Amino acid sequence: MTLRFSRTILAATAAFGLSAMALHAEMANDELNINGDLPITVKAPAAEHLKGHLDEVYSGWLFRSDETRAMEQDDFDNPIMIFAEQGMETWDKVDGTAGKSCADCHGAIEEGMKGVRATMPKVNSKGELWSMEDYINDCRTNRMGAEAWGWDSGPMHNMTVAITVQSRGMPVNVKIDGEAAPFWEKGKEIYYTRYGQLELSCASCHEENYGNFIRADHLSQGQINAFPTYRLKNAGVVSIQNRFKGCVRDTRAETFAVGSPEFHDLELYVASRGMGLDIEGGGVRP
Ligand code: HEC
Ligand code: HEC
Repeated sequence: MTLRFSRTILAATAAFGLSAMALHAEMANDELNINGDLPITVKAPAAEHLKGHLDEVYSGWLFRSDETRAMEQDDFDNPIMIFAEQGMETWDKVDGTAGKSCADCHGAIEEGMKGVRATMPKVNSKGELWSMEDYINDCRTNRMGAEAWGWDSGPMHNMTVAITVQSRGMPVNVKIDGEAAPFWEKGKEIYYTRYGQLELSCASCHEENYGNFIRADHLSQGQINAFPTYRLKNAGVVSIQNRFKGCVRDTRAETFAVGSPEFHDLELYVASRGMGLDIEGGGVRP
């Protein structure tokens, strides 16, 4: 066993073992109201399907420091708004062989994309589960004659942020029954599967230990209502599936790729755990 590995085990034991109580810290008891006129629900009774698992659901915002929370209260202080503006500019620009812009078909982004984030991911007309990134690339390649954007490329981040902010303050509204049910079930299974050398599932940290500290991090419920987020650590935008990748890697497991079927299923399941909360993306995180 390498020293690095044993240190990790020690850290995991410290966070999840006997001393867990001592490492607990209260979350903030604050209201999120962006620019003073956009109230966001950050705390709500858990959805029916979470019975026996969680009583209440909380936005990750409540677990962050005073300074980080303050940045999300005002769009002038929120660094992600620059990315949103760039996405909005691209929205009106013609690209590709068909000579079309997003606006040509969808109209103004404020109207055309209102509420869209809250419903993602969802099953498309061909019966596949699609995230917002898939819908965007489908329009670019099949309707505009333009090149697909990489999942975590700059233009994709800008566009997903620009579309997401049109749903701020609207409740998470994903469909989990009917055609969506088999995807949701698979996502749930992944959420509770223990991965990696540390044998930790998403639930080990985000359901059983939220409120506790793991190393320097105050664990939240791992909700995605604030995504895409701006991370101060890497001074850039982080997509939902990229955040999943980071968390799986922390368990010392081989991770799934962004855009993989597994992460699509997981995205739907995690989104459904946030039912009751409002969309607050783009959030700010350390
Ligand atoms: C030629 C017309 C056209 C253009 C140009 C176009 N779209 Fe679309 N878009 C559509 C249609 C039609 C749908 C509905 C597809 C479906 O439901 O299967 C759609 C669906 C979407 C959706 C999913 C919306 C929802 O409610 O499910 C998103 C997001 C989207 N487009 C983004 C974009 C972006 C971003 C651009 C520019 C990069 C763009 N579209 C360009 C026609 C277009
Ligand atoms: C070893 C503990 C651990 C495991 C296991 C883990 N995470 Fe995380 N996760 C963290 C930490 C630490 C953070 C950053 C602080 C926070 O928000 O909890 C985080 C953050 C997140 C966030 C961002 C929340 C926000 O509001 O910014 C999401 C989403 C997330 N995790 C999802 C998952 C999913 C899905 C899984 C399972 C594939 C998972 N995590 C597994 C430790 C873990």
